[in-house]
Amino acid sequence: MNEANMVETTTRLPPLGASKDELDTPALCVDLDAMEANIRLAIDTCRRYGVAWRPHAKCHKSSAVAQKLVEAGALGMTCAKLGEAEVFADAGVHDLLIANLVVGSQKLRRLVELRRKADPIVCIDHLDQAEPINQAMLNAGLSVRVLIEVDLGLDRVGVPWGAPTVALARQLARMPGLTLAGIMGYEGHLLTVADDHEKTQRIREALTRLVDTSNLLEKDGIPCGIVSCGGTGSFFVSVAQPGITEVQAGGLIFSDAFYRNMCHVPQFEYALTILATVVSRPTPERAIIDAGRKTMNQELHKPVVVGRDDISVEQLSAEHGKLRLGPGAQHLRIGDRLEFVPGYGDLTTVLHDRFYAFRGGRLEAIWPLEGRGRLQ
Ligand SMILES: Cc1ncc(COP(=O)(O)O)c(C=O)c1O
Repeated sequence: MNEANMVETTTRLPPLGASKDELDTPALCVDLDAMEANIRLAIDTCRRYGVAWRPHAKCHKSSAVAQKLVEAGALGMTCAKLGEAEVFADAGVHDLLIANLVVGSQKLRRLVELRRKADPIVCIDHLDQAEPINQAMLNAGLSVRVLIEVDLGLDRVGVPWGAPTVALARQLARMPGLTLAGIMGYEGHLLTVADDHEKTQRIREALTRLVDTSNLLEKDGIPCGIVSCGGTGSFFVSVAQPGITEVQAGGLIFSDAFYRNMCHVPQFEYALTILATVVSRPTPERAIIDAGRKTMNQELHKPVVVGRDDISVEQLSAEHGKLRLGPGAQHLRIGDRLEFVPGYGDLTTVLHDRFYAFRGGRLEAIWPLEGRGRLQ
């Protein structure tokens, strides 16, 4: 810890047991009872369908949360970046899916190091990623698990399902530095389909392509132990899809307004809030808080005021949040505090250094986001 951090730690962090009133604002808060209820719902649902849960860690990026998830029964973590996987490996999480392509000599060196202390899986959608990884592993006397990423219609990365995936799998199966462990796909383009029946149908169609592709591989003599997919916005459909072996949904541990209002997934409780202070009250209809875009993201959905439908977020500038007050909210004064459910937790947590975790109104833990900024 450097000197600047030490000063901050001793002077600014509230003691455990503190109430929210004792926190400086803005602050990123977790409701532990709600988070644990969400974790229980996810794990119980996965168990009911005989599917493993490998929650995506890109929203919490925290070793403490990762350890809690593994203790609750998660198989391991899904990560967006090699740097996140390094953080979780250091925290003792062994089974780490990097749901991304790993490219470049610097990363190959780090992947070899990561393989020495954990059992990562990396995604492949082209031989040009596979060959250097194979070579780096062989040079180190190691092998690493890989999944072929299949494009289910998201049009991001991935091989087309069916025959092109089988063709790539045959080539990967010949590389001794790689262990082809299965396939994955992400149905992210279908999360916000407005009609629930249509959404379910389209997710099932997409995942049927993934499962059919795994059956083709097996028929070809290529074992496909892992068939992975799923996000919070599709969780209850993905987990029930026959042939899927694990789901990656991770944001559900906190939920947010995007998942609830745009993906129509109301089953998970809001567990993440931003605590903010009213700093100005320029007109009867307007209040300004100390939380703007550098505190809360509004790209997919605006933050929502907890317990107040007479106050809405009108606009966020960098460090100011402009609220629109209804007639019932006129009593709001400078110095009053409000809590906000993030519009999208994933792009909000990464604006903060730490979570303040509360139970029954008392601070139980402070968790750093060690994976924050680990973009490489
Ligand atoms: C590869 C992958 N899997 C799963 C997810 C779903 O994550 P979450 O449940 O946090 O929305 C995402 C979201 O972007 C993703 O990119």
